[in-house]
Amino acid sequence: MSAPLNTSSVWRDLQQHRQSWEGVTLRQLFQDDPQRARNFSAESCGLYLDYSKHLINPETLRLLITLARARHLEERRAAMFAGERINRTEGRAAFHVALRAPKGHVMRTAGVDVVPEVHKVLDHMAAFTRSIHDGTWRGATGQPIRKIINIGIGGSYLGPEMAWKALRPYRHPGMDLGFIANVDGATFTDVTAHLDPAETLFIVSSKTFTTLETMTNAQQARRWVTSALGEAAVARHFVAVSTNVEAVEAFGMDTGHMFGFWDWVGGRYSMDSAIGLSTMLGVGVEHFTAMLAGFHAMDNHFQTAPLEQNLPVLMGLLALWYNNFWDAQTLAILPYAHDLARFPAYLQQLQMESNGKGVDEDGQPVAVDTGAIIWGEPGTDGQHSFYQLIHQGTRLIPCDFIGFCQPLSPLAEQHELLMANLIAQAEALAFGKAAEELRAEGVAETLVPFRVFPGNRPSSVLLGDRLDPHTLGALVALYEHSVFTQGVIWGIDSFDQWGVELGKALAQRIVAELQSTARHPHDASTAALLQRYLQRRGG
Ligand code: F6P
Repeated sequence: MSAPLNTSSVWRDLQQHRQSWEGVTLRQLFQDDPQRARNFSAESCGLYLDYSKHLINPETLRLLITLARARHLEERRAAMFAGERINRTEGRAAFHVALRAPKGHVMRTAGVDVVPEVHKVLDHMAAFTRSIHDGTWRGATGQPIRKIINIGIGGSYLGPEMAWKALRPYRHPGMDLGFIANVDGATFTDVTAHLDPAETLFIVSSKTFTTLETMTNAQQARRWVTSALGEAAVARHFVAVSTNVEAVEAFGMDTGHMFGFWDWVGGRYSMDSAIGLSTMLGVGVEHFTAMLAGFHAMDNHFQTAPLEQNLPVLMGLLALWYNNFWDAQTLAILPYAHDLARFPAYLQQLQMESNGKGVDEDGQPVAVDTGAIIWGEPGTDGQHSFYQLIHQGTRLIPCDFIGFCQPLSPLAEQHELLMANLIAQAEALAFGKAAEELRAEGVAETLVPFRVFPGNRPSSVLLGDRLDPHTLGALVALYEHSVFTQGVIWGIDSFDQWGVELGKALAQRIVAELQSTARHPHDASTAALLQRYLQRRGG
């Protein structure tokens, strides 16, 4: 059992170093070092990271990197890429990096090179995608498939939906995607409202093929299809993505139309596995392949770049710096790209399910705070709602701004406005507006306190050239490895998710009570809620 993290000498050095930041301003730091923007920036895989507007200096970085080394980040990274069982509580590898390895690479876990299997599935997905696109695969009545509905939740949904929106300009002509995740029947009704079953294909995406929401929606979809087209239509209108062959068979689906993956792929790390089938159908094989290449490029960078210039390492260390030494509780994800509207939601699962842990790998309570609360909305929308609090509120909220130099919409002038706002927001947060400046502008003294912007509010700016498939893959892998970096330093298992189990189990018990006369003992609040619901649920 290792000593608590906060008793290590480098942790204490960082605590002491943090004291030296009282009264230091970003204004001063930029004045003192004209090269600061250059010195605190890094670039890889088409992504430029400006981290100069952070409350850091070379000593901060030196200490954070010393911490990473002391926590064996490099060894743990090597273990991940070597397919070791780093997901200790589930006794599995976390080997998502093998999903994007090019053909011919050798990546072994448990002594087996998995790359040939990965490409076998990718080839199957590609053949299926082409057969839908060229109309050789048709629905039961002979109509071509035009609408793909992914039924899945969590990691079997958020990545595909995010990518479908992010890659909007790359969509395959004539293809439309929809997503059914929530068990709320309103989702199903809404998504299928104007669909024709004859031209709709459902992909039932579930690693386990046991998830309540997905199985319920899949049964509903089956009724929806068979009531219109007959029982025999199931084979032409349903395919499965899962690791669980038996459950797919038990559902009555043809396992010949099943796309598999492996227990070493965590749900939230699966958008580049067969879980990405809807993405491939949506944007085509070539674009999906380019996205995988972007993931792989970032994997290579993470594996080989010195820690000091390593984008995921730097981003992970910066997040940890505020989380543990500045008491920041959240991290705002602010994409200045309409097409990245679902990126914050995607990162919520990636980061909060991975690093929302209260015990370390030895099962001991962690001695320091772990994963930050991730939230965000696209700019400029957020500027007119919550940015007030980021600028002038009492909390420190580090921000990740994400933007692209080239527009993908024909409205190039609007893109200039968008990017001007991104750059301005980072500037305003860092440097604020002092009382003297306001007075010099003639602002009435009574209003000065209200109009002061304290500044010193840290942010990263991630700038890509364009939001294309390759860049999207690199961006996702960047955050995956940043999450990994933080998890390694905290000494937690970033690849399990036991915290979702209790609610699921209790819901099953309550379902039994709602659907029968069975009764279980509950606390007074739960019992009263149940009783009120039973009395008033109507029909
Ligand atoms: O909610 C927990 C979880 O297990 C996630 O980790 C996962 O992404 C999601 O449920 C869906 O699981 P499955 O793909 O097995 O349906």
